[in-house]
Amino acid sequence: MGTYEWRVHHPEGRFRVVVTKELPGERWLEILTAADCRVEICTSPDVLTVEAIQSAIGTSCHAAIGQLTEDWGATLFNALREAGGTAYSNYAVGFNNVDVAAATRIGIPVGNTPGVLTETTAEMAVTLTFAAARRIGEAERYLRAGRYQGWLPTLFLGELLMGKTVGIIGAGRIGATYARMMAQGHHMNVIYYDLYPNPQLEEDLAAYSALQTTRGQTPVTCRRMDTIEALLQEADCVSIHTVLDDTTRHMINAERLGMMKKNAILVNTSRGPVIKEDDLVAHCRTHPDFRAGLDVFENEPEMAAGLDALDNVIIVPHIASATSWTRQGMATLAASNVAGLLMGYPAWNKPDILPFLGDAPPQAAPSIINAEALGLAMAA
Ligand code: DGY
Repeated sequence: MGTYEWRVHHPEGRFRVVVTKELPGERWLEILTAADCRVEICTSPDVLTVEAIQSAIGTSCHAAIGQLTEDWGATLFNALREAGGTAYSNYAVGFNNVDVAAATRIGIPVGNTPGVLTETTAEMAVTLTFAAARRIGEAERYLRAGRYQGWLPTLFLGELLMGKTVGIIGAGRIGATYARMMAQGHHMNVIYYDLYPNPQLEEDLAAYSALQTTRGQTPVTCRRMDTIEALLQEADCVSIHTVLDDTTRHMINAERLGMMKKNAILVNTSRGPVIKEDDLVAHCRTHPDFRAGLDVFENEPEMAAGLDALDNVIIVPHIASATSWTRQGMATLAASNVAGLLMGYPAWNKPDILPFLGDAPPQAAPSIINAEALGLAMAA
């Protein structure tokens, strides 16, 4: 199989499943073994090319689990179909690397792993927000360089966020969780922009506000904004939680950065291409009080020229979902998607996916994006 090493688990299994990266934990392998799968896992950390994956699929392959770094389009879905494949799962909640329309046309169900990244990713967005506001990267570099001469009244002055306004772009599961953390934990007022209202978020924060009032403390507000522009102008801190598609690519560009407050904070834990990264570099250069916290980049693993030299930017390498619980949960869900489809189970259609992590998981495939389009049976 190309030049890569592949580890085989449960070699006598009836269904051949190709997994393009080592995944954390054991539970996912138990699920595939119980479904009588022979699991072939690529042990290389390299990002596999389409050709390498195609060669791994070969002439007989029943299912595959792939990564967000890989290009799962018509070529691979055709290869999988011709090899007898009937199931694919992305090891990610995001699926901008997958041509779902092509998979649907070719007849391959596509799974993803929602529900286990929500709090983990929101916590990283909070982490980046405060790291940017309090200049943590800059201060740590200064200390490690041996430049600290003693406490000073003016050393690394940052921004206090309490009582200010946080703007959320994309108020789905992760965005709304981040909003609650910032409002309930840090008493920030929330404004959000989303194509759809989030009544649950608004109700939750209204209830929290009422509680604050009965305690004699300052209430918080939560408002949906009509435009991104209005949100950018008003927010002290903006966190992006949208999907990446043609409507959100380069949504944040020079013009929109220019609308933000001079000392605003911009956080991105969604997908890199939502921000035009060259424009962000130029903006951060000319606005030293503006800060950004980035988990994702436009052309990963590369960064725009000059980004890593900017003291007002905090950067981490796409690790927002990197806790053991979440990454093992993602593996469990990806394996359950594939095993469920191979076993002929229906697709799960409830938002609560956590029962799949328990000891008696439902007999269903937890999250199949194109289940309806393919006319798959749905769990009752
Ligand atoms: C996802 O699952 O889409 C994340 O980006 C991985 O952290």
